[in-house]
Amino acid sequence: MKLWGGRFSKDTADIVDNFNASIEFDQKLYKHDIAGSIAHAKMLARSSIISQEESFKIVGCLIEILSDIEDGKIDFKVSLEDIHMNIETILIERLGETGKKLHTARSRNDQVAVDIRLYLRDEISVICGLLRNLLTTLVQIGEANVDTIMPGYTHLQRAQPITLAYYLMAYFQMFKRDHERLRDCYKRVNVLPLGVGALAGVTYGTDRNFLADELGFGLICENGLDAVSDRDFAIEFINDASIIMMHLSRFCEELILWSSQEFQFIEMDDAYSTGSSIMPQKKNPDIAELIRGKTGRVYGNLINLLTILKSLPLAYNKDMQEDKPPLFDTVDTLKSCLEIFNSMLNTIHFKKDQMKKAVSAGFMNATDVADYLTKNGVPFRSSHEIVGKMVLYCIHQSKTIEDLTLEEFTAFSPVFKEDILGLVLAEQCIASKISSGSTSKTSVASMLESAKEFLASI
Ligand code: ARG
Repeated sequence: MKLWGGRFSKDTADIVDNFNASIEFDQKLYKHDIAGSIAHAKMLARSSIISQEESFKIVGCLIEILSDIEDGKIDFKVSLEDIHMNIETILIERLGETGKKLHTARSRNDQVAVDIRLYLRDEISVICGLLRNLLTTLVQIGEANVDTIMPGYTHLQRAQPITLAYYLMAYFQMFKRDHERLRDCYKRVNVLPLGVGALAGVTYGTDRNFLADELGFGLICENGLDAVSDRDFAIEFINDASIIMMHLSRFCEELILWSSQEFQFIEMDDAYSTGSSIMPQKKNPDIAELIRGKTGRVYGNLINLLTILKSLPLAYNKDMQEDKPPLFDTVDTLKSCLEIFNSMLNTIHFKKDQMKKAVSAGFMNATDVADYLTKNGVPFRSSHEIVGKMVLYCIHQSKTIEDLTLEEFTAFSPVFKEDILGLVLAEQCIASKISSGSTSKTSVASMLESAKEFLASI
């Protein structure tokens, strides 16, 4: 008979058992379910709701069940619906009447809410660690490439020269914000729902502060109705995960482009590339493409959970059981993508000569030439026009700006002097970006410093 079978005169249909059950996916929560139950059993004794001896027995038995699950000795039953009732049933089978006391002053509604929060709390810590590894890799590759010159793009057209370290530090900022967002999300995950019962509170003198201390929760959900119906924290997490995936997919997109014959800026390590079943010459960046593709799954999970919660009346509704597949899938996808992306990035070979070569075409110093005129008294709009004409001249002559002689410069403006010839070199264009947050070496050095300070603080 089901744990709730008293009111029913016949069994559920088999087809209903299968449809209704969540054990197939929520068995992932076994550790958290047992941790929540152990805290609850201790609290019941402390509040004199069950005896100390009964509490000891329940806690001891739950610990045994935990190790039996871990040793693969337990077969979960679909007919017992979910992880909560599977574990409670085993407890009752082993302890008899005493086992039946565990669910006093508790509902599966506050039970499942606490389980998900415990699970997500652990996973957020793991994900923050993976982000930290990635941030560390970015700093390491950045430090080795403070002098590596590459084109910076807008509209995917060559725009201005930058350094590879500057580029990598842009991604550092993105993943740093992701880390901060997750830590902030953690605060809202780390709130205790347990102890509010089904929705209205319980008729026992329970001690929720004790439960919070036992389970390490920073705060307690203040309203029971909210405590059992809130999944905002999970939506917030998947939102944060979606932003991380978006960052990874932008990075992957660039690495895919850079590894193409057209760019040839990088060579992916063989260990992170795959071949073609028909074209013998192919070396494909599958890993980066898959991460880019998996971004769609995570966005889908976000819309999935938002839609499950949309219009749901308070408090618990069975719809909410469907929160777990998108949440679990997000955690698993994000962890595997962060891990493999970091290893892949660590093994990339940057073709510095190719990157530098790409800077020589595309008139990437044109803005610097216009700035030269403006600093020598020409209004910027006029400088822009003069340099535009110079670029057109170069295109017709098949020359670069660096190729021009001083005579050619002065033909466009008498303001040009000898020093312009040195200022148009890519190294000089980079060094002359003196504003804070720029690609210049001093500016990137301070970015790397503050990046290391951030890493030391997390
Ligand atoms: N398996 C359920 C879930 O994941 C547990 C909560 C069930 N509560 C209930 N009143 N039916 O949401």
